[in-house]
Amino acid sequence: MEKYIINGGNKLHGEVSISGAKNAAVAILPAAVLSDEPCIIENVPNISDIDYIIKILLAIGAEVTMLNKSTLRIDPRRIHTPEVEYELAKKMRASYYFLGALLGKMGSARVSMPGGCDLGTRSIDQHLKGFNSLGAECSVEHGMIQVSAERLVGAHIYFDIVTVGATINVMLAAVKADGMTVIENAAKEPHIVDLANFLNSMGAEIMGAGTDVIKIRGVKSLHGAQYSIIPDQIEAGTFMVAAAATGGDILIKNVIPKHLESITVKLQKIGVHIEEFDDSIRVVGTGHLERANVKTMPHPGFPTDMQPQITTLLTLAEGTSIITESIYDSRFKYVDELRRMGADISVDGKVAVVEGVGRLMGAPVRATDLRAGAALIIAGLAATGTTEIEDIHHIERGYEDIEKKLRAIGADIKKVGVPERVLAQAL
Ligand code: EPU
Repeated sequence: MEKYIINGGNKLHGEVSISGAKNAAVAILPAAVLSDEPCIIENVPNISDIDYIIKILLAIGAEVTMLNKSTLRIDPRRIHTPEVEYELAKKMRASYYFLGALLGKMGSARVSMPGGCDLGTRSIDQHLKGFNSLGAECSVEHGMIQVSAERLVGAHIYFDIVTVGATINVMLAAVKADGMTVIENAAKEPHIVDLANFLNSMGAEIMGAGTDVIKIRGVKSLHGAQYSIIPDQIEAGTFMVAAAATGGDILIKNVIPKHLESITVKLQKIGVHIEEFDDSIRVVGTGHLERANVKTMPHPGFPTDMQPQITTLLTLAEGTSIITESIYDSRFKYVDELRRMGADISVDGKVAVVEGVGRLMGAPVRATDLRAGAALIIAGLAATGTTEIEDIHHIERGYEDIEKKLRAIGADIKKVGVPERVLAQAL
């Protein structure tokens, strides 16, 4: 088992470059199966969730070649099965994008119920409602989700809630359906737009991605394309908070500042100095942090995937902050770990009240999920003394080389123990 050991107290200083967006990549790689020709995908993050997507692609018969550290060639011409087995699907949430992609390609798909971070109930009713509207029959039996259609026909779909996953899955299934699909109350996250841009570069006709109405005119076939994934909004946000928490001064490169706006505005309110450039952002911790209230919302609101990190920062502020989690039922599990480090936080359902304590103390802690793990790294960097973080496989699902990137900007962090991460075979 591996763990991170952090000796806190160093101010982060220097430049860090952001990798490709996890939540875009985990949709774009499955989308490549819809093509009739090979696709080349650049700026793919080197994280374990991508290893699993590659394993699934290989298992269904796609050819995957690594052209360099962050570029993949995916040849979908020999895909022979619409089934993704339990052992692969259970590793991650995004395995369910193979439902939409294989349904669109082959007219049917059988994928085991997905895994992913334990953040409370994570229903897939809107995915099934969307597939159903396109003419597919859906069932869940023995843990396998089965969808199949004689013919997919464009439809008008109104989602009951804003959901990233169902918006993406319906886009994947609808690109090759007959006629027009209209998705209302669609999610607007940057990775929805990135997926639409990728599909359009393959010949799809998707309009309105990034607004709450997406229109998809079905096309007969999709051709190969070369595409570069957007930078990771949440990785960038995590480094922004790390700079603020340590009173550091860092330049975060390869970002789209517009995607970071909700995070930037909140950090400015907390007292952090931020300068935006074309594709980079400078974050300077002023040493004084003000209290703030934060409510997570679908994009363009404050992202739930930054909630544990900002909560950690607010433990270092003066005064009482209120954090409201409005996306997930149970995204405060990490609070017990922060309490070990001296944080004063009470949680009642989806609301946390943070009494700023000004400083944290190093302690042994456990990453309860991906973003919780990132928050504990930030806590360890800001704390006095040594923090040991266990269960770091959660963190490696979504952050490329996080300890190397942090070390390069002055953090005292190292990874010890035997590697858990299984690299995708046959690359
Ligand atoms: N929901 C339903 N029914 C559905 C779909 C969703 O009730 O059919 C509910 C969920 O239970 C949840 C909420 O709607 O409470 C939001 O779910 P959504 O579909 O938007 O999220 P997701 O697709 O499961 C993706 C990211 C998450 C990120 C959310 C919100 C991937 C692989 N995962 O999850 O990323 O938190 O969107 O932005 O893209 C992370 O990166 O740490 C992470 C958890």
